[in-house]
Amino acid sequence: MTAATDPVKLMKQEVGKAAAALVKSGSIVGLGTGSTTAYAIQFIGERLKSGELKDIVGVPTSFQAEVLAKQYGIPLTTLDAIDHIDIAIDGADEVDPHKNLIKGGGAAHTREKVVDYLANQFIVVVDAGKLVDRLGSVFPVPVEVIPMAVTPVMQAIEKLGGKPELRMGVKKAGPVITDQGNMVVDVKFDAIDNPENLEKTLNNIPGVLENGIFVNCADVVLIGEVKDNQPVVRKI
Ligand code: A5P
Repeated sequence: MTAATDPVKLMKQEVGKAAAALVKSGSIVGLGTGSTTAYAIQFIGERLKSGELKDIVGVPTSFQAEVLAKQYGIPLTTLDAIDHIDIAIDGADEVDPHKNLIKGGGAAHTREKVVDYLANQFIVVVDAGKLVDRLGSVFPVPVEVIPMAVTPVMQAIEKLGGKPELRMGVKKAGPVITDQGNMVVDVKFDAIDNPENLEKTLNNIPGVLENGIFVNCADVVLIGEVKDNQPVVRKI
C-alpha cells in the first residue's frame, strides 16, 4: 500500500510535513528515529533543497536518522560540536494526556532521550493510534541493557512486577543489537501508575543503560488523523 491508499501512512506523512514546517533557518535540529520522523526528515530535506530553509544542521538520534539525513542532503553535526539544540522532532509509541511518552520501538530510545531532552523545543509526531489514557496500556517499555547483565536485569524486572522479553531480530538470528552494541528487553506492565517513578526505578537496576519512558520532555505533540477521508493534523 502506498501513502495515498494507506491511512496510517498518510497520517504519518502529514504530521511529518507539519513538523518539518516548524524548523526555522539557522537552527540546530534533533533528528528522531522511526517511520513518522522519516517523513519529517524527508520534508526538511525538501525545504532545504528548494532554498526555503537555509543553514540548518541536524543531530541524528540513530544510524537510521543519519542515513536518511544524508539521503535528503541535511548536514550533520555531533553533540561535541554544539552547545544547544533548537528543535527536535521525534516519534513515539504511546502518548498519555500529560504528553508523557513511551519510545524505543526502534531500539533508539537512549540516543533519542539525550537529544530530545537537550532540545529547547521537542516536537512529537504520532498518528492518532498512539494516544492512550495511561502509559503501558498497549506498548511494553523498552529497556536497553548491556549484554552481560541481561539475565539479572530480567530477574530484577520480574521482581518489580514486569514481564520482560528479550527483543529478537527480524531478518537476523538472535537478539536485536542497538546502535551502542547493547540488547533491548521489552517489559509489559499491567499498569503504569507513576511513569516518573518507574523510569527512575528501571534505570537504577545495574546493567540498565536507559529505558523508553519520557516524562516532562515533550513540548508539543502533533497528531495525524484522518477525518472525512482527509488527513488532518491536531496539536496538543
Ligand atoms: C525509535 O526507537 C522510537 O522511539 C520511535 O520514535 C517510535 O518507535 C515511533 O516510531 P514510528 O514513528 O515508526 O511509529
